[in-house]
Amino acid sequence: MTAPETKSAQTLAALGATQPAQVSALFAEILARFDTDAAVARDDAGWKQFRDAWLGRKSGILTQITDNWLKPATPELKRVVGQELNKLRARVEAQIEARRVAIEAGADESALARERVDLSLPGVTRPVGSHHLIRQVFQQIEDIFVSIGFSVVEGPEIETPYYNFEALNIPEFHPVRDDMDTFYIDLPKGAPTPLLLRTHTSPMQIRTMEKRQPPVRVIVPGKVYRRDNPDATHSFAFHQVEGLAIDTDITFCDFKGTIEYFVRQFFGPGVKTRFRPSYFPFTEPSVEFDVTCVFCGGSGVSAGAGTCSKCKGAGWIELFGAGMVDPAVYGFVNYDPKKVSGFAFGIGIDRLAMLKYSIDDIQVFFQNDVRFLRQFP
Ligand code: FA5
Repeated sequence: MTAPETKSAQTLAALGATQPAQVSALFAEILARFDTDAAVARDDAGWKQFRDAWLGRKSGILTQITDNWLKPATPELKRVVGQELNKLRARVEAQIEARRVAIEAGADESALARERVDLSLPGVTRPVGSHHLIRQVFQQIEDIFVSIGFSVVEGPEIETPYYNFEALNIPEFHPVRDDMDTFYIDLPKGAPTPLLLRTHTSPMQIRTMEKRQPPVRVIVPGKVYRRDNPDATHSFAFHQVEGLAIDTDITFCDFKGTIEYFVRQFFGPGVKTRFRPSYFPFTEPSVEFDVTCVFCGGSGVSAGAGTCSKCKGAGWIELFGAGMVDPAVYGFVNYDPKKVSGFAFGIGIDRLAMLKYSIDDIQVFFQNDVRFLRQFP
């Protein structure tokens, strides 16, 4: 038997079709062949081949049927060939378009499957940083003092000896300078003044009083430096908050009340406080301020009934130095010591944070080990 596509290359006469029924049978064969071809066209390239084989202008099967069957058909067969050809064309065109749509949809689906985003996968977590514990403690202290009328000022870490020592009533060769040995900046010969890394935040007392007239109420958070050997409670760089309050009628009672208020806000209402006499060249009288040990509650005995290792059995812990501003200091800033009075304090923040958070080595603040930092989110 001749294959249907071969038949379309021959005339009806050559195929021996003289009756309409024979013509219809030939078209049925062609249609069956078309259905088989259609099923094979599964991708874009296959579809194009399939379309050209059937609809190609020059040698597509429909063109061949038109040229070989329709055009030379006898008048008796022409009508039936025309009708059958129209039916076939409509079917071929519709089917080829339907295949195209189906193949494109299939391609879309496989592209979708390929590019699908799996929303159930966990996303990329970007860890959010947090403030260092020292910064958090600065913030707590600032909040407490701001709530009672103090403002926050900051000053230079590189100072002149005048502000760091002399204007604070610490002349050259004063023995207190031995406790505050620091780092000096290498300067070119002939520089007007030596420069050093400040050993405390107290120079800001002078700078503030130079700029402002009483009443003055400021705190000064900042970094300070000393040539101290590192150990569990000493670092060569550490942090202080200076406090200064000057007015016409400030007494030791205001000083005591302010400090006690701060300590209770910071450590909780249970702590007791006490002053001990001390010495700073820029305050008179000077005190060291102690609180009852926050670890043993002031008993001196630890939970395990032994001596409390933090206060060494004393029940008290030294917190910071303070005092009433020495009248000699007013002379450096043109305040009249007969008219004004005030108090100042200087809190070591690292040791304060160690006390509050039971940290036994100051060095952890500077090592930046995330296992430590993460404990204070
Ligand atoms: C002063 O620095 C005075 N300026 C404080 C002051 C201010 C007194 C205003 C009166 C009026 P002192 O040298 O004691 O004081 O230091 C204050 C605090 O800094 C200490 O209590 C301690 O907590 C801390 N500190 C001192 N040296 C170190 C160090 N090497 N490492 C860590 N903390 C330190």
